[in-house]
Amino acid sequence: MSIKIINIVGARPNFMKIAPLMAAYKDCPGIEPLLVHTGQHYDERMSDLFFRQLGIPAPDMNLGVGSASHAAQTAEIMEAFEPVVLEHKPAAVLVVGDVNSTIACGLVAVKLGVKLAHVEAGLRSFDRTMPEEINRILTDAISDFLFCTEQSGVDNLRREGVSDQKIFLVGNVMIDTLLANRAKAQETKILEALHLTPGKYAVLTLHRPANVDDPAVLGELLEALEVIQRDMPIVFPIHPRTRRNLAESALGGRVAAMTNLRMMDPAGYLEFLKLMAHAAVVLTDSGGIQEETTILKVPCLTLRQNTERPVTAQIGSNRVVGTRPANIVAAYREVISGKAKPTGTPPLWDGQAAQRIVKILAEKLA
Ligand code: UD1
Repeated sequence: MSIKIINIVGARPNFMKIAPLMAAYKDCPGIEPLLVHTGQHYDERMSDLFFRQLGIPAPDMNLGVGSASHAAQTAEIMEAFEPVVLEHKPAAVLVVGDVNSTIACGLVAVKLGVKLAHVEAGLRSFDRTMPEEINRILTDAISDFLFCTEQSGVDNLRREGVSDQKIFLVGNVMIDTLLANRAKAQETKILEALHLTPGKYAVLTLHRPANVDDPAVLGELLEALEVIQRDMPIVFPIHPRTRRNLAESALGGRVAAMTNLRMMDPAGYLEFLKLMAHAAVVLTDSGGIQEETTILKVPCLTLRQNTERPVTAQIGSNRVVGTRPANIVAAYREVISGKAKPTGTPPLWDGQAAQRIVKILAEKLA
């Protein structure tokens, strides 16, 4: 009898994590995977585009939940997902990352007595004001299989009392996707389309509530960007949340006045990978981008006070610089002057993480 596993995606950063798992299941005939999209992200450029570019099979179900407050979104996902688990009676539910879809579906699974696998377990920013930190802590607390990307994740889980039998250091599925798509990304014409010269531009992403929902913090960040864009073009694929906040605040005018800050719609996976690969520097508040730039060996300035991915700063190209304009500009100048530190590759970030996960699940669920 085959082992049924329901795999969950909801928001943009989930798609590159699930893609290599769906591919790895194909080599494991004993597992019957189902893919459920909660609908947390629904715009073409935040969702469908990634399925096409990454060759992810169409979801078996879309719960169509969409945007709402945290409580409403989480609750709606739970209500919609429960009948799916009851109908399919899977051996396990697999969730990735730290978004609301992750905890919502995890909670439904364990309450119905279904085993829960969490991919990207154990990461901690130790900042409980981040919604993702709450999602991470809670999902890990109820998971049966905790797949870690880096040693800090293993250490955090042990400290929280998780038994060693449940913890597996397997590497990074997001990096599986990066390595599998690097050559294809190279073929895109995004640099030509934006008239960019390799090595002579910066890439920016901003979407964390702590940065973009508070006009004081967003204003500080803009101060730094005003200086940097005088030096080189900044490409800024803009998240819908950030676009809305800028449009609704007085800061929109300041952004419009920066002639070298090039706002664009959210980029596709392949186009964004190429943009990062050839950038002089990447400025971001994303989690995954800290990891991707580590493998690309492109300097990354993380515009946050902390990181839940410390290996990217220890041996990768990441620097956690906060949101003070003076600190951001100083770090930028250091990086541009060529004083970037030598960087290495974190253990097991080798493109094989999904295979390791599927092998473990097949053995343990048999
Ligand atoms: C979510 C994740 C965050 C992740 C991010 C990546 C949580 C708590 N947060 O944040 O960890 O880094 O995704 O993007 O799960 N919107 C659209 N179209 C869409 C999706 C969203 O316009 O397809 C707009 C809506 O106005 C919505 C807002 O973006 O209210 C926020 O969306 P939401 O899914 O609540 O959180 P993100 O900020 O995207």
